[in-house]
Amino acid sequence: MMETTQTMLERLLGGVPLGLPGIVRVGGSDDLRAIGVDNGNGHTKVALFHPDGRLCTLAIPTVYRAAREIRGGAGIVSYAVNDGSRFWIGTDALSHDGDALPIGSTAERVSDQRHRDFLAATMVECLIEAGYAAGIHNLAVGIAIPNDEIVMKKQGDRLGVSRETRDALRQNLYGKTFTVVRTDAFGHETTWVLTYSVMAPQAQSLGTYLVWKNAPNGLAVDNGIEALTIIDIGTGDLQRTDIDVNPYRLMGEKLGAGTITMARHFARRLPQLRLNDAQATQAMITRTVRAEGRRVDIGTQVDAIIAAEGQDLIARMLPALQQNSRFVLFTGGGVLLPGLRQAIEERAAIAGKTAGQGYEIVPALYAMSLNAIGALVAVVHSAASGQ
Ligand SMILES: Nc1ncnc2c1ncn2[C@@H]1O[C@H](COP(=O)(O)OP(=O)(O)OP(=O)(O)O)[C@@H](O)[C@H]1O
Ligand SMILES: [Mg+2]
Repeated sequence: MMETTQTMLERLLGGVPLGLPGIVRVGGSDDLRAIGVDNGNGHTKVALFHPDGRLCTLAIPTVYRAAREIRGGAGIVSYAVNDGSRFWIGTDALSHDGDALPIGSTAERVSDQRHRDFLAATMVECLIEAGYAAGIHNLAVGIAIPNDEIVMKKQGDRLGVSRETRDALRQNLYGKTFTVVRTDAFGHETTWVLTYSVMAPQAQSLGTYLVWKNAPNGLAVDNGIEALTIIDIGTGDLQRTDIDVNPYRLMGEKLGAGTITMARHFARRLPQLRLNDAQATQAMITRTVRAEGRRVDIGTQVDAIIAAEGQDLIARMLPALQQNSRFVLFTGGGVLLPGLRQAIEERAAIAGKTAGQGYEIVPALYAMSLNAIGALVAVVHSAASGQ
């Protein structure tokens, strides 16, 4: 089979490596490790290639907490960046009352030191997951940014990153080195020296589109679809992106808040637990909470909230689902919530759409990470084209 007959998503689903290099050179640089990151409001997703070419992805709840002193028993993985104080991230931070880092624009977020430190620690976890050793890692970072931070450039008709985002990336990440000391659960320390030698921002939904539409060599696979709507069900945002294939055109709009609204309703139903946003989000994913020191199954309550509050999310997606002129692609972690997925399928059926023909829900394995994979692929391709 010729390479260009299968999209990257199809290859990934079939377990076929993309055959793309994990190491790139950009504009005369030394060898850089390519890495894609989607710094979501709920989870930060990172993608990079294993040494053997397989894709590795990781999603870590965007949660940060200053580390506490552990005086006995099992340790918790902690990090210190550029000689700063120690902190925990992800589920470890969550189960010790950590809260989500503030949501906001890329500029607001990367200007916050905790956020930069969190990002560096997340990159370290992904490097470990992919089997790399501590030491010096010079990175070419493809970064997925919210669609509304992409603007039309003054000259010509090219799309580019908004000035605010570009300046913030330059000031806070581009060319900067983050020295991360990671202490594992047994107290063993390793030092990771990460330099963001290249920062390549890209509209997050464009990443999803590239992986869904293109072969690994970057050429589009003709599936007969010329007009597409992507619905990304995220934690903070529900996003709609309309893409025309030829001539290529991308238009995005926010359709309001994402699953966070359901999580907050859920937290209000269980006031005695005082769940913060991140804990409520995680409770809905794991279908358990910790109450009075015990792990408690709350699956029934989660289903009830999704059935009731999910209707509002669905209502905001309906116009996209009911239109007949575009294929609809559903993505984002929201499609992993069983009740929500079912509701989408039911509404699609009512609108006369069949799966595969009128719409598609990105398979569970990749629903959260497509934006990050797209950012990774984009940085590899831009290196190959000498940009
Ligand atoms: N494994 C899972 N099982 C069930 N639901 C999940 C799972 N993972 C994520 N979700 C749900 O999907 C939601 C969105 O997750 P996602 O990681 O796509 O958001 P995000 O990208 O961090 O947010 P945003 O796009 O607003 O920045 C989560 O808040 C959660 O409700
Ligand atoms: Mg997202």
